[in-house]
Amino acid sequence: MALERTLSIIKPDAVAKNVIGEIESRFEKAGLRIVAMKMLQLSREKAEGFYAEHKERPFFKDLVDFMTSGPVVVQVLEGENAVIANRDLMGATNPKEAAPGTIRADFAQSIDANAVHGSDSAESAAREVSYFFADDEICPRS
Ligand code: TYD
Ligand code: MG
Repeated sequence: MALERTLSIIKPDAVAKNVIGEIESRFEKAGLRIVAMKMLQLSREKAEGFYAEHKERPFFKDLVDFMTSGPVVVQVLEGENAVIANRDLMGATNPKEAAPGTIRADFAQSIDANAVHGSDSAESAAREVSYFFADDEICPRS
């Protein structure tokens, strides 16, 4: 077991549904600690840079349109195996395939508006955390 950090985003659809607190609560109940958080409106440039790995994919423009359609809440989660723990809480990318009780099964409508983002590896997490937070904006609590 390893203490890790991962980057989580509550996407515009979930913010619009007013379920920020319910989603944060799932992280806390699973033993993940919120060590940094902010609400912000992403610019196109910021969203494009965040999802740069997908820039050749057919859904890229729609993804950027969606991610800039309203405010998001970005947080750093810390805990044992935080990357996988968060992915397990989120469920599959397509909410129709997400396991019952996962965040996407409960709050997402479609593959493009799927409630949450979570880093997919320790390497992605390191890049994504520093994409949104300076070192002095992260408050270790473990
Ligand atoms: P991806 O990194 O594959 O999924 P995840 O968010 O589970 O890590 O894709 C990033 C986002 O791109 C995904 O959350 C929603 C969007 N997307 C689509 O709109 N259509 C698609 O077919 C895929 C694969 C992703
Ligand atoms: Mg991904």
